[in-house]
Amino acid sequence: MASDMNGRKSLSDFRHDALSETTSTNSECVERARAGDLGNLWVTAARQTGGRGRRGRTWVSEPGNLYASLLLIDPAPMDRLGSLPLAVAVAVHQAVRSVLPAGAEPVEVKWPNDILIGRKKTCGILIEGEALPDGRYALVIGIGINVAVKPDNPLYPVTCLREQGASVSADELFAHLYASMAEALQAWDKGRGIREITARWRAVACGIGEKITVNLPDRSISGHFAGIDDNGLLMLDTGSGKIMPIAAGDVFFGS
Ligand code: BTN
Repeated sequence: MASDMNGRKSLSDFRHDALSETTSTNSECVERARAGDLGNLWVTAARQTGGRGRRGRTWVSEPGNLYASLLLIDPAPMDRLGSLPLAVAVAVHQAVRSVLPAGAEPVEVKWPNDILIGRKKTCGILIEGEALPDGRYALVIGIGINVAVKPDNPLYPVTCLREQGASVSADELFAHLYASMAEALQAWDKGRGIREITARWRAVACGIGEKITVNLPDRSISGHFAGIDDNGLLMLDTGSGKIMPIAAGDVFFGS
């Protein structure tokens, strides 16, 4: 199977480079893009020495967990990229759920794309983009999944797949992720499949209707999580019928 005539992706379109150690698989992907890589490249590492999280945080990256980044080049027109994080979350959710035993606690997506098991974070996703000097746009989807170990985090409760009864290795989990990402990107269809993706995202979303606080870079806002719009923006009901769309922030439940 290869890309169809509309450029939709399938399994055989992707390459995979497995490293034993790197600073950050995201940085590795950006460097390869700058060096001319054509994209559709997965880079994984058994260990990262400079793993990066959102908002400049460190992502502790000891052996045993999955550290994976997917490099895409010109994945869609810029005005359609806003929905890509939702497609990524749907793919990672699918991979995580598929390795958990029956009866495990619920696997949910926390806006925009953390994956929680029993409301504890088990995966973080860092999506970064860079305009290359030759005019191409490099987009890197970085995914860290707690498989065997759960680094402490003072900001939120954390779990790992082993604690939740899954006995997979990081490599085995990656095989599931590789397949589910190819399928979700095909459904996303360069942003044309946004309705399908938002429907899938809503079906596994955590906390719609609940009271939340969203931490923005300069302030915090509280309200009720009214869902997402078709571009993936969080809709915050701040009271008296006012809905505020939010593009980026950290969500805390029940506060
Ligand atoms: C978050 O803060 O929740 C996002 C964490 C993203 C971590 C992954 S691990 C693979 C890739 N390489 C990095 O340096 N970061 C991402």
